[in-house]
Parts: sequence; C-alpha cells; structure tokens
Amino acid sequence: MERYGKVIAITGAASGIGLATAHLLASRGASVSLADVQADPLSAVVSSIQKSTPKARVYHKVVNVAKPEEVASWLDETVKQLDGLHGAANLAGVLGAAGLKKISEMEDKEWDFVMDVNLRGVFNCIRAELQRMGEGSSIVSAASVAGLKGYAKGAAYSTSKHGVVGLTKCAASEEGYRNIRVNCIAPGPIDTPMINKAASATPSIDGIKLAINRRGRPEEVAKLIAFLLSDESTYTTGSCYTIDGGHMA
Ligand SMILES: NC(=O)c1ccc[n+]([C@@H]2O[C@H](COP(=O)([O-])OP(=O)(O)OC[C@H]3O[C@@H](n4cnc5c(N)ncnc54)[C@H](O)[C@@H]3O)[C@@H](O)[C@H]2O)c1
Repeated sequence: MERYGKVIAITGAASGIGLATAHLLASRGASVSLADVQADPLSAVVSSIQKSTPKARVYHKVVNVAKPEEVASWLDETVKQLDGLHGAANLAGVLGAAGLKKISEMEDKEWDFVMDVNLRGVFNCIRAELQRMGEGSSIVSAASVAGLKGYAKGAAYSTSKHGVVGLTKCAASEEGYRNIRVNCIAPGPIDTPMINKAASATPSIDGIKLAINRRGRPEEVAKLIAFLLSDESTYTTGSCYTIDGGHMA
C-alpha cells in the first residue's frame, strides 16, 4: 500500500464514493482538499477525518462543480493552503431523473441539469486541475457502466457519463507528454445514497445481472481510485476501469 505525501482534490466528498475516498487517502498520508455542494455533510466529513486521522491536512470548500469560477477559486485556495496539487478525484455527480423518463418525454431543464453537473462539471474540474498540476500528477473522474452502455430511461445520465469517458481519453492524449495521467472509473451498483435513490425509482436496478451478486461498497471503489492516483499505476492513462461486480462481463 503506497503512502502518499501528495495533495489530492476530491469533489463529491460529502457522500458515498467521494467520502470513502477522502477517508482512505487521508489515512494513507495524503493532504486532501474536499469540495461538495452540501455544506453540513461536508463539514461532518472533515470532522470525522480529523478524528480518525488527526495528522491529516484537510482543506474544504462548498463548491458547485457546474460553476467554473467556483472550481477555479477552490483549486487556487487548495494550492495555497496545502502547497500544491498532485492528484484529483472528480466524483461529484447527479442521477437526475435517470430510470424515470424516455428521451421523448424528457424536459430541457432535466437534460441541462445532469449535463451541467456530470459533464460540464468534470470538464470544469479537469481543465482547472491541468492548469495547476505539474509532471507526474494524476486525475481520476467518475464515469459509470452507464458511460459504456445505454440504459432505457437513462439518456441524460448515460450520455453525460459517455462524455466523461471521451473527455478522459482526450485529456490523456493531450497531457501524456508532461507525464500527467488521466483515467476514469465505471462503477456498477455501489451502495451509496445515489443508488438507493435510483433503486427506489427503479426497483429493477437491484435485479441487474452481476457475477458477484451484491452491491459494491464505496470503500472498494476508493481503493481503485487510490491505485489510479498513485505511483503504482504510472503507465496507465486514458483508461476506463470497470468496477461493477462483473456486470459488463
Ligand atoms: N453509486 C453508484 O452506484 C454509482 C455507479 C456509477 C457511477 N457513480 C458515480 O460515482 C460518483 C459518486 O457517486 P455516489 O454514489 O458516491 O453518489 P452520492 O450521491 O452519494 O455522492 C455524490 C456527491 O456529489 C455531490 N454533488 C452533486 N452535485 C454537485 C455539484 N454540482 N457540485 C459539487 N458536488 C455535487 C453531492 O452533494 C454528493 O455529496 C458520481 O459521479 C456517480 O455518478 C455512482
């Protein structure tokens, strides 16, 4: 297990996969800069990290990733407070009305909301991160199995996540010359508030075919993110790692 000594920025850190990633990286010695739109849950995560890992350096800010100026000022402050930026996990995301509406029934505002957070938000983050990172840095963003495969009634979510895969490949192609790696992950059903919301709207989600027949745990996904951010994956870039209990097998 690598110990970090790196500064890692994490969006979506107040819940689910982001929360688990913040805890894991802090416990391994990273300085973490946490962002989320939910102020109180974000403060609670900071307190719990300070309790479980008293030595951890933690900075946090309420940020809406859909707003480029908020992302830029959070990352400027991160560099100032924590002395640099060596990695980023772009995990903020929303489900929108996924599982509920066909394309023919979708309203503009639903489409725009999901695209603004999931795709524009990841673009805002990757751009601002690349502007502040140096040689050897690493970026990981959350796509989804829905970024690799289409699901009925999930067009906005699925399209936004396909976009994250495309953005990842482009960024990796552009930045390899300075040894900055850019990857994404494609989780299947992971046991977080998001999947609970999806399952209550569409109970058949819990019936999807899996080789390992249970939901994944956010801590299991955090370990993959940690690997991709670490110097144990120095030849891996432009890839999208499924972590889905064999759903895509
Ligand atoms: N849970 C799953 O089954 C699953 C599967 C595939 C992909 N994913 C993806 O993984 C990522 C994390 O999902 P999760 O399951 O931990 O979800 P979650 O809902 O538990 O956490 C997502 C976090 O993102 C934050 N967020 C939402 N909009 C934001 C915005 N505009 N700016 C900043 N923060 C914002 C939320 O407040 C929340 O804390 C998401 O991108 C999601 O699409 C999750």
